[in-house]
Amino acid sequence: MKGIILAGGSGTRLYPLTRVTSKQLLPVYDKPMIYYPLSVLMLGGIKDILLISTPQDLPNFQSLLGDGSWLGINIAYAAQPRPEGIAQAFVIGRSFIGCDRVCLILGDNLFYGHNLPGILNSAFNSPAGGVVFGYRVIEPRRYGVVGFDSEGRVIDIEEKPAHPKSSFAVAGLYVYSSKVVDIAGRLSPSARGELEITDVNLAYLKANDLKVELLGRGFAWLDMGTHESMQQAASYVQTIQKRQGFKIACIEEIAYRLGYISSRELKALASDMQNNDYGAYLNEVSTFRRSELDL
Ligand code: DAU
Repeated sequence: MKGIILAGGSGTRLYPLTRVTSKQLLPVYDKPMIYYPLSVLMLGGIKDILLISTPQDLPNFQSLLGDGSWLGINIAYAAQPRPEGIAQAFVIGRSFIGCDRVCLILGDNLFYGHNLPGILNSAFNSPAGGVVFGYRVIEPRRYGVVGFDSEGRVIDIEEKPAHPKSSFAVAGLYVYSSKVVDIAGRLSPSARGELEITDVNLAYLKANDLKVELLGRGFAWLDMGTHESMQQAASYVQTIQKRQGFKIACIEEIAYRLGYISSRELKALASDMQNNDYGAYLNEVSTFRRSELDL
């Protein structure tokens, strides 16, 4: 299984915040936004990850995350010169994907909840060519929206419909067979000039090869694309972390729990953060015996 994080876009919605940096590098409480989607791919056990961003922002992602070896994973990079649609990730990622299945996550999406690794693994091992996740939201018209028939079968997905057929949005996490590369390659740009991820989903749906998994109400899916939603995500992360004493999306901790890095390596990562809460947390986690840890 390969993983792709799409972290480009024009960022104009967040100007002036994003005039000199990428949205996905902005802080969400105590870590850069990109840590949240990266943690999801890691929790799914994915070790080969392609990060796609704009040519100007890629060097900053590379400075932050390097080749991933410090986390025991491989991170490669590719540029998307213009934001020509989410589905373009598969055109750009063609040779990276090869003959493997691929999981795409949007760089401004946060997923957190019980049994996330299990949910991901069943999607990865699903016989369906495409697996997407539906989540109930108050404002479905901002998203791709799933339409169901009277028996609850998925019959339609519409991108930002004026009159949504349900309250279930398609979250920014997608699992596809390697065929997605050809499907995306055949798409034409939509009226707004983008290769739409919804058109990819419709191609799988038409072939009767799409599974829509519903994420329950106990699960958190947040997007972080506006000032308000970034603030809400930061408050959510702060609240849960302060309550439990566990961090959300701490990629160093996940690497340790998965056995990709040793406790000595985790301590070394903490060494230049000794004077803050993040470093103290890594030091604390490094004393846990791995056999006692549960993701
Ligand atoms: O968040 C889930 C939604 O994401 C889905 O329900 C929709 O079906 C899907 O189209 C998408 O809608 P958005 O309106 O959120 O897409 P947006 O254009 O904001 O792009 C999402 C992220 O992907 C954003 O952080 C920027 C990045 N992006 C987007 C495009 C179009 C790129 O890196 N390159 C692109 O070309």
